[in-house]
Amino acid sequence: MTKKLYIKTYGCQMNVYDSNKMLDLLRVFGYAQTDNIQEANLVIINTCHIREKAAERVYSELGKLKELKDKRKALGLQMLIVLAGCVSQAEGDEVFVRAPYVDVVVGPQTYHNLPELITKVSRENNIALDLDFPVISKFDSLPEVSSPQGYSAFLTIQEGCDKFCKFCCVPYTRGAEYSRGLSEIYREALGLVTQGAMEITLLGQNVSAYHGLDDNKKEINIADLIRHLAKIPKLHRIRYTTSHPNDMFDDLIELHKHEPKLMPCLHLPVQSGSDKILKNMNRQHTAKQYLEIIEKYRAASPDILFSSDFIVGYPGESDQDFEDTMELVRKVKFSLAYSFKYSMRPGTPAAAFEDQIPEEVKVERLARLQALLFEQQTQINQQAIGRTCLVMFEKTGKYLGQILGKNEYGQVVCALGSLDNIGKILPVKVHKISGTTLVGDLM
Ligand code: SAH
Ligand code: SF4
Ligand code: F3S
Repeated sequence: MTKKLYIKTYGCQMNVYDSNKMLDLLRVFGYAQTDNIQEANLVIINTCHIREKAAERVYSELGKLKELKDKRKALGLQMLIVLAGCVSQAEGDEVFVRAPYVDVVVGPQTYHNLPELITKVSRENNIALDLDFPVISKFDSLPEVSSPQGYSAFLTIQEGCDKFCKFCCVPYTRGAEYSRGLSEIYREALGLVTQGAMEITLLGQNVSAYHGLDDNKKEINIADLIRHLAKIPKLHRIRYTTSHPNDMFDDLIELHKHEPKLMPCLHLPVQSGSDKILKNMNRQHTAKQYLEIIEKYRAASPDILFSSDFIVGYPGESDQDFEDTMELVRKVKFSLAYSFKYSMRPGTPAAAFEDQIPEEVKVERLARLQALLFEQQTQINQQAIGRTCLVMFEKTGKYLGQILGKNEYGQVVCALGSLDNIGKILPVKVHKISGTTLVGDLM
């Protein structure tokens, strides 16, 4: 009999990728995915530790799971609970103290051991913990064939981070930087395309710092990798995320000029526009250097759109520092951005800084920044009106007869059209915007 697996994912795209890998792995061991948690024999919560809110939500989620687990137990049914992801890595065996009904705690670098850990707990009626950073990569133990991910798929090419920004938990939860080899990535990309993917987004915490080996053990960079992947005939679109400003190099920037499969958009987190704050964050670049990278990209790809991440209320951020951030935003003009109030992460250097910013100041700054970013996003979306873009249709839209997809720039576009258009890249003339979606007509 197949066992039922329910998986819930928080956090970044890399967690989405990891959850898919866990599904692939456990499918081999007789588990089938279910959307109905009530019938699950196994529940995996894949967690994020980046901000306090994300991490705390996990414990309230676990509380609800305990009730379900007890309910199933009363009926003589089992429900194993696995806590995976970055909260597991950060909290370690503390999880079993706060939530003793959790059966397995596994980290982002050891989830390939899940079948073994699950067998162990089911047999011995015990708990299991695996939070190592193994020397041999988990990628060597994961199934090569992945299940279909749809028309747009994620592919992790690089993991971990050596940058140690002072606010960030990722270097501790994901470990040191590691790049996968070319042939391994190429095979996975081919597999995804065979399963129907038309677009692949290459993932990494510092994706532009990618330095994997080719078959001759020669080191290659992300531009070399993209050139290889672009040769896959049915792969139409390539994107990469997330980049750090210090890893942007001319070969990659120039590739946007020459490689039509490389999409004209870039996610480049800046965090702050103040040199003082950037220095205190250990970002290792200035606002001016960031703007220079933006200019280089614009020179290579004039219509490129930029997105970014911001933190407001970092320790010591003065009114002037915040104004510098607003100024940088005005200069760049972002099509999309994620902005957050600084959140103290236990164990990171910034959490121990004395000049923490009061909550009400953070709230006020975030509101002002988000208003400006929203205004820019709306303006950029409005500029698309009257223009034709190429949309890769992925699914049905909100209203009957509508289909939805993304254009080259990563903007969401919907149009009236038949379902046969899903899975095709088609020209659409935009005639209006609705919220953050572009609305147009198929040409
Ligand atoms: N590697 C990427 C981002 C990883 S985390 C980079 O270098 O930028 C995603 C985003 O979460 C970050 O860009 C940052 O804006 C935000 N973030 C990370 N730690 C945070 C913290 N302690 N408080 C608030 N936001 C944080
Ligand atoms: Fe975190 Fe900085 Fe590494 Fe990004 S570069 S993951 S923000 S430490
Ligand atoms: Fe969160 Fe871990 Fe990603 S902390 S943002 S899930 S790397």
